[in-house]
Amino acid sequence: MQNIHEAANYIKNQLDFQPETGIILGTGLGGLVKLIEVEKEISYDKIPHFPVSTVESHHGKLLLGRLNGKKVIVMQGRFHYYEGYTMRQVTFPVRVMKVLGIERLFVSNAAGGLNPEYKITDLMILNDHINLQPDNPLAGPNYDELGPRFPDMFHSYNVAMIDKALEIAKKMECGVHQGVYAAVPGPNLETPAEYRYLRTIGADAVGMSTVPEVIVARHMSLPVFAVSVITDLCYPGAIEEVNIEKVLAAAAKAEPYLTELMWKIIK
Ligand code: HPA
Repeated sequence: MQNIHEAANYIKNQLDFQPETGIILGTGLGGLVKLIEVEKEISYDKIPHFPVSTVESHHGKLLLGRLNGKKVIVMQGRFHYYEGYTMRQVTFPVRVMKVLGIERLFVSNAAGGLNPEYKITDLMILNDHINLQPDNPLAGPNYDELGPRFPDMFHSYNVAMIDKALEIAKKMECGVHQGVYAAVPGPNLETPAEYRYLRTIGADAVGMSTVPEVIVARHMSLPVFAVSVITDLCYPGAIEEVNIEKVLAAAAKAEPYLTELMWKIIK
């Protein structure tokens, strides 16, 4: 608790600004950044107790500013379990953003498509998840001032925001779906048998992030909106070898669509 407050105070002392919306930007989805009227940039390594990002494709800084008229705090670069962080480290920034006053959290990620209707560069709005990561950010002592010991996960993804996003998406020129995201630990991609298993248990897309942050946000009753960019196809007949370059290229191609969706839903 003390670490969370020390990190939040460090950020608060940098400027007179209370963010309303927190945004976590995933792999190759930095396009939104160009639209932010940035008032302050804070590198993660300056913030007390903040983990430092190790993945090349992720920058490590917080951006505070305005996006389409709303006050936002944006994580440019996130932390993954596969980098070796504990789940408490992975989710620490979400705790800090909540203490700073955010009222909702937006998350984006790159994911493999398991639903045979999905195409590369489609967007999937998360309406539920399956957590297959081996640890939980809420394990250990519960801090009742943050949230309950046994938080409910019924409406993990805010229904009003999903409906709004689907309405916005009707006028967009890319495929937009809603579906279930399965979170795996990584860092290896999955075997064909694992993809079949993930589809069988009800997942529409698979990735290595997002779920820890969502669990922690819901622990603190923060409404969540999350979107995956489908960067590769993982169903029989479409599976092929994936490499990070292909994933990044697909994410870059989808970037304008995700940016448009986020821009409009923020408003
Ligand atoms: N699995 C498969 N494909 C992916 C993933 C993943 O975790 N992330 C992005 N594309």
